[in-house]
Amino acid sequence: MQTFKTIESLQSALGDAAGGTLGFVPTMGNLHAGHLALVARARAEHDLVVVSIFVNPLQFGANEDLDAYPRTLDADSSALIDAGCDVLFMPCAEELYGDNMKASTLVRVPELGTDYCGASRPGHFDGVTTVVAKLFNIVQPDAAYFGLKDYQQFSIIRKMVSDLAMPVILHGVDTVRETSGLALSSRNGYLTPEQKTLAPLLYQTISSIGEALAAGEQDFMRLTQTGKQRLQEAGFQPDYLAIANATSLRPATKEDTHLVILVAAFLGSTRLIDNLRISV
Ligand code: PAF
Repeated sequence: MQTFKTIESLQSALGDAAGGTLGFVPTMGNLHAGHLALVARARAEHDLVVVSIFVNPLQFGANEDLDAYPRTLDADSSALIDAGCDVLFMPCAEELYGDNMKASTLVRVPELGTDYCGASRPGHFDGVTTVVAKLFNIVQPDAAYFGLKDYQQFSIIRKMVSDLAMPVILHGVDTVRETSGLALSSRNGYLTPEQKTLAPLLYQTISSIGEALAAGEQDFMRLTQTGKQRLQEAGFQPDYLAIANATSLRPATKEDTHLVILVAAFLGSTRLIDNLRISV
């Protein structure tokens, strides 16, 4: 695996290797089996696999601790070598944003980013779309792979790619879960042992809602209120629990057939998210 820290050196190496197709996996590092499933898909489908590790300051809010975000470069590099990654791109913030990040051009998808995680983390998705657009311009992949655990993020990136006619095929890859059902996430590392035993309730709660929807229940308000109460009683602080149209992310109506149940909840100071898509 070759590692590059500058745009120029990366593009020069990619230019030399031109010919086959390129699969790209953007990440913020601290890789787990969920990320490696994306790399495996890219490896199976492309001649060249590029992974980026960049802890993007633009998507962190003022009250979110960018410095505390886990950086595990040695472990990440060896996992990527084992997974068959060809090229690792690891720019610093100055390389992507120059010395005045706040003056950077922003890419913003207006509607899909205002609710759910967008409401709790103002500006977060603008940071995500801006960096992903920039990484796409730098790497120029044929296809890019994102985890569906971040369902709102994936929906927003899909809209950006479509609205801006970006020449890249997007793949959303299913969430990888522990046997308990807990979705793999870099944030699971922040949980105490006691919180870790509680955490699978997040997926159990949305799974129960999914079962009720599949059985024909259409009282979305009752389902989400009961779900939030269940989480609260167990010790979570729910941020949101919503049933939405799987494409528009607007609150579900009785006519919608493709739904997504979206949840975010705190366990202590750790914010966990999950979702479940369901067709009724
Ligand atoms: O999902 C992530 O890890 C990040 O939001 C992404 C897509 C790599 C952009 O920084």
